[in-house]
Amino acid sequence: MLFRHIKANKDISDREFDKVFPSNIRLLSDMHFTSVKVAKLASDYLGEKSNAVLDIGAGPGKFCMIGSAWTSAQYVGVEQRTILCDIANHVIERYDLDRVSMINENIVNVQFSEFKSFYFFNSFHENICREDPIDQTTLRSRQLYNCYVGYVRNELDTMPSGTRLVTYYGFLKEVPKSYKLVLDAEGGFLKFWERR
Ligand SMILES: C[S@@+](CC[C@H](N)C(=O)[O-])C[C@H]1O[C@@H](n2cnc3c(N)ncnc32)[C@H](O)[C@@H]1O
Repeated sequence: MLFRHIKANKDISDREFDKVFPSNIRLLSDMHFTSVKVAKLASDYLGEKSNAVLDIGAGPGKFCMIGSAWTSAQYVGVEQRTILCDIANHVIERYDLDRVSMINENIVNVQFSEFKSFYFFNSFHENICREDPIDQTTLRSRQLYNCYVGYVRNELDTMPSGTRLVTYYGFLKEVPKSYKLVLDAEGGFLKFWERR
């Protein structure tokens, strides 16, 4: 019902949506996961042109789940935390969701060439910030942060012309100069990019 409502463009609040997750994960949503509204805006752009969207640091898969209900594209989330991947897979199975899957991996082990467009919600910030972490498992390390940012920037740079990227918050160091800003929304925090 929930996902059918999203598909039918009925209003679903984040509070309603987040009920698919266990209560301890729901508490993280406001700060760490994409809202229903932003997921629809971003997937409109990313899902329009392509059939393979990668969410770089997918959490429990909220963006991917909403994107797959809202558009006809395929969504893959890569997430380093096994517990979040397990929760996402449980929801995917329970609601029998099509076109969504999760990879339990560090982003540096994922080849971007298999995908056509990309979503990035400031995933590496927790490597350089002590405030409100998801849990205590992430190493605070500027070196690690630079390594992840550099990997994503290089991979995005090697993608063909026309590749689409949406970023939400962040310092934008992951965005190569080869991408032009097409549009922004949500007070400038949501940015829509295209590879030249
Ligand atoms: C801000 S949350 C965003 C979640 C999701 N993209 C959304 O918008 O709802 C960032 C997620 O990225 C994951 N992450 C951080 N660094 C990662 C890495 N190097 N490889 C894979 N996942 C990573 C974190 O575990 C966290 O779940």
